[in-house]
Amino acid sequence: MCGIVGYIGPRVAQDFLLEGLRRLEYRGYDSAGTATIDSKQKLNVTKSVGRIATLAQEIAAAPCPAGIGIGHTRWATHGAATLTNAHPHIGGAQNLAIAHNGVIENFAELRSKLKTEGYEFVSDTDSEVVAHLISQCVDRRRSLNGNKDDTQIAIESIKEAIAHLRGTFGLAIIFSHLPETIFAARLGSPLVIGVGEGEHFLASDAQPLIGYTDRIVYLADHQVAVLTANSLQVSHRDSGVVAHDVKELDVESNQVELKDYDHYMLKEIFEQPESLRNTMRGRLSEDMATAVFGGLNLTPQDLLKVKRIVFTACGTSWHSAMVGEYLIEEIAQIPVEVEYASELRYRNPPMDESTLIFAITQSGETADTLAALREMKRKGHPTMAICNVVGSSIAQEADGGIYLHAGPEIGVASTKAYSSQCLALTLLALYLGRLRHLSYNKGRAMIERIKEVPDLVEKALESNTKCREVAEKYKDCNNFLYLGRHYNFPTALEGALKLKEISYIHAEGYPAAEMKHGPIALVDEQTPSVFVMPHGFIYEKVMSNLEEIKARGGPVIAIAAEGDERIAEVADDVIYIPQTVEYLQPIVSAIPLQLLSYHIAVLRGCDVDKPRNLAKSVTVE
Ligand code: F6R
Repeated sequence: MCGIVGYIGPRVAQDFLLEGLRRLEYRGYDSAGTATIDSKQKLNVTKSVGRIATLAQEIAAAPCPAGIGIGHTRWATHGAATLTNAHPHIGGAQNLAIAHNGVIENFAELRSKLKTEGYEFVSDTDSEVVAHLISQCVDRRRSLNGNKDDTQIAIESIKEAIAHLRGTFGLAIIFSHLPETIFAARLGSPLVIGVGEGEHFLASDAQPLIGYTDRIVYLADHQVAVLTANSLQVSHRDSGVVAHDVKELDVESNQVELKDYDHYMLKEIFEQPESLRNTMRGRLSEDMATAVFGGLNLTPQDLLKVKRIVFTACGTSWHSAMVGEYLIEEIAQIPVEVEYASELRYRNPPMDESTLIFAITQSGETADTLAALREMKRKGHPTMAICNVVGSSIAQEADGGIYLHAGPEIGVASTKAYSSQCLALTLLALYLGRLRHLSYNKGRAMIERIKEVPDLVEKALESNTKCREVAEKYKDCNNFLYLGRHYNFPTALEGALKLKEISYIHAEGYPAAEMKHGPIALVDEQTPSVFVMPHGFIYEKVMSNLEEIKARGGPVIAIAAEGDERIAEVADDVIYIPQTVEYLQPIVSAIPLQLLSYHIAVLRGCDVDKPRNLAKSVTVE
């Protein structure tokens, strides 16, 4: 949460900062701001409450043509979304500006100490202490080492200051007396550096860099970077200069363009046939009737020793983990547990050395998932990541893993990453199954079905018009139930989450039979139940659950298989999708649920891509 950008070079920094912040807006959109250094070596700070568009107006009214600057888009943690709480924050005697992502846990203690030492605080944020602390260190070092180089003093002061911080930070820092240098530091919150020709870029993730440079450096925890137009130096907080790898950024600028779509969410929903093809590419071995993975870093012998798998994740990724549980237990016959990362990080469940951990995450930056992964790693378990963002913290810290290759997901509500997670888990189940009891023939049969997935999804997308019609009919309802069983239970949970997060309608997902134990009391004429019920062994049972809802006057929307005429006689509305085998239904059934929530949200006038109170990357606990 919160996005940081920085620029040093021949361009007008504010142009890149605004474009970069627009691309990072999904990380938070409560307020935004930039700081540049003008020709008189004075800080020029512009802030606004709300979206980047407002900040752009403020900047247009009083532009600063400097070639250096930092910027920030905020998801409020400490202090309301006000102008004074917006970043960048100024330290000491107006000589330095910082943009901070993360949470400073010991800010109260630091703040009261700094206050007694004469520092004045103007905001309620935890971040402002960082600005004053660095400023204090600079002043002290300058008075002690008057002859020392200013840049060196700045580096040492930043290192000294961050050693006092408890919590997480990604920091961009500029000093008015050093108009040719940006400083950056990281612990727990991501930062990347873009290497250009005679220019450098800084950002919370790679999105702002796309189209500007394809050379990228991922800053690691405890590292401090010093950027000038022509140089980049990275050092460790507690030691000297360290080598930095310049990697290739493999994303085209057209991947982050909206094209002809009204919203990123709709674009990403429609990209799924392609994103699924990319997840699958190169991972099916027809000869061996199995899946192949390049990055697990575990031999088949290691994997045969695995007696239990624990999936840990948050939100939508937690739902795909549940799909993974059904898949791996059924296909590979390995016991699986699914843990909320926010719980796992503080729990102490008994696990033996044969337990393998998988962290599932789109962004690779979710703070709780990262913490759970670290805790499991500390206990000595092998850790894997199923992750979309290449080079993200979780991808780097896990011992191995599977990249989704779904492409950048910009809409805050996860869609294509979810379906790619489900597909990657299906491939994993096939692979683990083939190491155990799954026969060659069954493996081949699975491959044939898996290859059909992108086309099935293409077909499921044809339900768009019907989804819009159904959305029109139910858009004013204030409560929804989502019901499904077996593989379609996690899908029901995911459908409910999609609706509530973007349309602000209360929705609950349940195993269809479980609703008799409480939720059925909610059923009335104003509470539609969405039944996810393509054909499968559980179909008849779900049909009985559906009848129970109908008998109590509740409207029913069914997601059902093409050709199912019986359902049309009992449900109020039916959205048809192509039939497939049960283990692939989570991917195909998710499509109309994504479309339904999208259309309801649009019809209710909601900001689909940037729902209130949310951010795409949840980098705070
Ligand atoms: C909902 C959604 C969130 C994320 C969750 C975890 O649509 O996107 O629930 O799934 O914040 O994020 P990642 O997958 O990046 O770890």
